[in-house]
Amino acid sequence: MKVSAIIPAAGSGERFGEAKQFKLLAGRPMLFHTLQPFLRSDAIDEVIVVVPGDDVHSTHRDVLSMSAGKPVKVVAGGSRRQDSVKRGVDASDPDSTLVCIHDAARPFVTEDLIQNSISACENADGAVVALPSKDTVKYSENGLVKDTIDREKIWLAQTPQTFHKEKLLLALDNADSENLTGTDESALMEAMGFSVTLIEGNTNNFKITTMDDWERAEQVLNSTLRQTQGTMGS
Ligand code: CTP
Ligand code: MG
Repeated sequence: MKVSAIIPAAGSGERFGEAKQFKLLAGRPMLFHTLQPFLRSDAIDEVIVVVPGDDVHSTHRDVLSMSAGKPVKVVAGGSRRQDSVKRGVDASDPDSTLVCIHDAARPFVTEDLIQNSISACENADGAVVALPSKDTVKYSENGLVKDTIDREKIWLAQTPQTFHKEKLLLALDNADSENLTGTDESALMEAMGFSVTLIEGNTNNFKITTMDDWERAEQVLNSTLRQTQGTMGS
């Protein structure tokens, strides 16, 4: 069984104010942090990075320098996230049967989350890393609460999201013909009636959407650095 990792990094960072994927976090582009666990993971056979067209060449050079022999490809993205993912899937090795999709904007993904989302695909068409909701969730329309949703049933989706490749391709084709736009690929799989299972994630695997998230990411890295230095000193 071959697994291709697909890292969509072709967004424009509208809510952030700039293309956040290349912004330096602790001296390295955010994309570099995100890629490390995929390049290290024995469960991943190739890594495909999807970036804006103008960045394909420079990203390819940078990713090759850190890939330690693992096959890497860099391709140009599309206007919606699912268009970028489709281009990544199309570029994948024809022999790969699973695709593990992960936002470039979640730099704290771990090898365990990657492995767990892959393993869970033995019994389902796909697996999504998610967090159980700690808050009570309200459904509202026009500013008024319409309903309180049973918290036990609410999960907040993250990535990695791993799917059987052939099924994801069917779901992407269906989205095209039905004019569906999903905020994640799981939504497109669900629309086809495919089974998607949940893997419990961790709070550090948050997505960097706004500048507040960036500050939180810097704090996480600083505290990790302090812990490492503390261990080395003892
Ligand atoms: N993404 C992509 N192609 C797109 C849109 C998004 O590859 N056309 C990627 C982003 O680069 C990011 C991930 O999908 O790694 C999650 O998207 P998001 O956090 O929404 O990033 P942006 O789309 O860049 O931000 P915004 O929505 O604020 O413009
Ligand atoms: Mg976006």
